[in-house]
Amino acid sequence: MSNYLQTTKELYKDAAITPDVGLCCTTSPIWQLPGLSIPNKMQQMNYGCGTTVHPRDLANNPKVLYVGVGGGMELLQFSYFNRQIQGVIGVDVVDEMLKASAQNFVKAEEENDWFQKDFIDLRKGDALNLPIEDNSVDVAAQNCLFNIFKADDLKKALDEMFRVLKPHGRLVMSDPICNQFMPKYLREDEKLRALCLSGAIPMDDYIKMLTDAGFGTIEVRAKRPYRILSPNHYDIDHNIIIESLEVAAIKDPMPEDGPCIFTGKAAIFYGNDEYFDDKKGHVLMQNQPLAVCDKTAAALASLQRDDIHITDSTYFYDGGGCC
Ligand SMILES: C[S@@+](CC[C@H](N)C(=O)[O-])C[C@H]1O[C@@H](n2cnc3c(N)ncnc32)[C@H](O)[C@@H]1O
Repeated sequence: MSNYLQTTKELYKDAAITPDVGLCCTTSPIWQLPGLSIPNKMQQMNYGCGTTVHPRDLANNPKVLYVGVGGGMELLQFSYFNRQIQGVIGVDVVDEMLKASAQNFVKAEEENDWFQKDFIDLRKGDALNLPIEDNSVDVAAQNCLFNIFKADDLKKALDEMFRVLKPHGRLVMSDPICNQFMPKYLREDEKLRALCLSGAIPMDDYIKMLTDAGFGTIEVRAKRPYRILSPNHYDIDHNIIIESLEVAAIKDPMPEDGPCIFTGKAAIFYGNDEYFDDKKGHVLMQNQPLAVCDKTAAALASLQRDDIHITDSTYFYDGGGCC
């Protein structure tokens, strides 16, 4: 096993035994939902950098897989929507993390009358070799783990998620990204990598890893401030900005003309007709925004019409629109 994977396991073994508040941290607030109480220790062990729990993924009691359980907070949140015995499978490679999260689920059962610890099926396993059957999961999630992996391992982890998802199933992820150059010595620093600080790759590379794995539809759901590596603390001459990205990758067939990547663009037709039809499945009603993927946005822009406006990416895509 590579050293950095071993360093990662040791770091999270320690973070399981002694909660490390602020190890990862996010601007997205902890979920406040009616009847949901998140035990204190679970909150202290929130080692994610965003959220992967989106109610619109969770209709019809999907089978959920969560890789890299941490203190179990997001598994509890998934269970809030799922409420099935063994409805949420949690996989982690660190024994101490499995044990700590199991204890947190016992506490969660005491605090939530709707929750049973048996809603969670905890399994020891590695993201690089999941103990899960092919095509058996509707929603797979990971938060702040895959950024730690180097390219070859990230490819393996994504291939594993693709393998276990049912057709049209979705992989929901939250990870740090960094669009600036990261010096090699920071990238090679195993501890910084394990802390989710120096493995971050540019957003476009991250999305390409997903489409290369075969996911035909990508949704960039949120992009938020995360961390700064500064010359005050590292041997660098300018700040390196790290953001956290929330993405869903959907196991739709790959379109012949390439993946549909939604980054929050919209097209607005403001001509004199009632609507504009591009004859490729996109009908723009007069002065009504239609969410479009980047491919459709580029195709509409290439028409060079003076009655269609294409907005910039917001990186906060929330469903709907073309394709
Ligand atoms: C940064 S923490 C994130 C925890 C959780 N997702 C959250 O948001 O709080 C990374 C988690 O992945 C686990 N982990 C580390 N390496 C792993 C691997 N190769 N396979 C599965 N889990 C792993 C750690 O034990 C830890 O629970």
